[in-house]
Amino acid sequence: MDKIVVQGAGPLDGEVKISGAKNSALPILISSLLVDGTLTLSNVPHLQDITTTMGLLSHLGVQMQIDENMHIAADSSAVDQIRAPYELVKTMRASILVLGPLLARMGHAEVSLPGGCAIGSRPVNLHIKGLEAMGAKVIIEDGYIKATCKRLQGARMFMDIVSVTGTENLMMAASLAQGVSVIENAAREPEIVDLANCLNAMGAKVSGAGTDEITIEGVDSLHSASHRVIADRIETGTYLVAGAATRGRVKALNTEPKYLEAVLNKLEEAGCDLDVGDDYIEVNMHGRQPKAVSLRTAPHPAFPTDMQAQFVTMNALSQGTGTVVETIFENRFMHVHELQRMGAEIQLEGNTAVVTGRERLQAAPVMATDLRASASLVIAGLMADGPTIIDRIYHIDRGYECIEEKFAGLGANIKRIPSHLWEREKSRYLSN
Ligand code: EPZ
Repeated sequence: MDKIVVQGAGPLDGEVKISGAKNSALPILISSLLVDGTLTLSNVPHLQDITTTMGLLSHLGVQMQIDENMHIAADSSAVDQIRAPYELVKTMRASILVLGPLLARMGHAEVSLPGGCAIGSRPVNLHIKGLEAMGAKVIIEDGYIKATCKRLQGARMFMDIVSVTGTENLMMAASLAQGVSVIENAAREPEIVDLANCLNAMGAKVSGAGTDEITIEGVDSLHSASHRVIADRIETGTYLVAGAATRGRVKALNTEPKYLEAVLNKLEEAGCDLDVGDDYIEVNMHGRQPKAVSLRTAPHPAFPTDMQAQFVTMNALSQGTGTVVETIFENRFMHVHELQRMGAEIQLEGNTAVVTGRERLQAAPVMATDLRASASLVIAGLMADGPTIIDRIYHIDRGYECIEEKFAGLGANIKRIPSHLWEREKSRYLSN
C-alpha cells in the first residue's frame, strides 16, 4: 500500500483552494437515478468515493461522462438494474443512498447492507423505517435490503436519531412519491440543503431543508438539470486546523464560511486570528502556540463529528488541557492510539478524550484508520521531529483531493511513496 511521509517542519504559510464537498457530491450524484434525463454537475471533487459512486451508477445503467475539469454528466434515462451488489457497496457506506432513488424510480431496489465500519455500527434502520412509512415492503435477505413499492405514498416520518444520509435517502424517495411527505427531526447539514436545491432544480418540490422539518410534495417525474456542488466545509476546517496547530497562517479559498461557524468559534477560542470574507477564511497564529479547547460533537449547526480528530490533534499541540466528547459515533477515537504513539498525552474515558498539550510530538510509523483520523495524523506529523510514516492512506484518498499537493503548497514537507518503491525508499525514513 502507498504511504505518506510527513517531515516535521515549521509553521504552514500559504493559501489552499478548497474542493467541492464529498458529502454533498455523493448524494447529489446518486440523485441522478431519479431523473428521466441527464444531471450535469460541476465542482465535483476528484476522490476515490466519487469514482466508486460512478462505478455503482454505471452498474445500474446510468450513462456517465466526465471531463478533465471533473464536470460530470449522468444520464439515467436507460437505468435498468435494481441491485447494488455487496462488492461495490462494501467499499463505500454511502452506497446505501441508492436505495431510496432506485425504489422511487423503479418500484424495486435490492441494496447490500453496508456492513460494519471502523467508527461505529452505523445501522440503516431509520432509512428502512421511513421507506416503510411511505408504503414500501422491505425484507432483509441474504445480506440485502430488498424493497418493493409500485408507487411510494407521502407520509410523515419522525427520525428517532438525526441522520444525514437517512434524511437524504428519504428526501430523494419522497420527491417522486404520490402526495406530501414531512421529515421531522431531519438533519440540518449544508449538504442536505445542497441536495434539496439540486432536487428542486430537477423539478422536485422540497422546502424546509436546513431546518429540522423538511416538506416534500411528490411529483410524477424529474427532468434534466445542472448543479454546482458546494464547497467542502470539512476539508476547509482540516486545513485551517493544520494552520493553527503549526502556529502558522492558512487561507482557505473558494469556501463558504457560514457552514463552519461552530468550528470557527473553537479556532477563535484557541487563540487564532481569523479573517473571514465572502468566499475565504484565513487563520493566523503569528507563531503562537494554540490554547487547548473543549468541545462536544453534535448534529449541525453544532460542532461536526468530522472535525473531532483534527481538534484532538490540535489540542495535543496546545497549551493546557482540552476535553473532547464524541456523541455521534461510538468508536471514533482510533486516531488517539496512533497519536499516543507519537507522544500525545491523551486520556480516553468512554466517549471522552482528555488531551494535554505539549510543544511537539515525536515522529513514528502510524496507521490511518478512517478518513478524518488519517488527516489528523498528517497534521500531527507536521509538528513532529523526524519522518512520520502514515500507512493505509487509501482512507485519506477517499475524502481529500490531492492532499500532499495541497499541504506542500502550504510549505509542508510531505510526499507519497508508492508501494512498489517502499522497499527501496524505506531506509531513508526508518531508524533501525
Ligand atoms: C454522514 O454519515 C457523513 N457521511 C459522515 O461523514 C458524518 O460523520 C455523519 O453523517 C455525521 O455527520 C456522508 O454524508 C456520506 P448519520 P451518516 O446517519 O449519514 C445513527 C466522513 O468522514 N444512525 O448522520 O452515515 C448512526 O449510527 C463521514 O465524511 C442510526 O442509528 O451518519 C450515528 O450514531 C464519516 N440509524 C448517528 O445516527 C440509521 O438508520 C448519525 O449517523 C442511521 C443512523
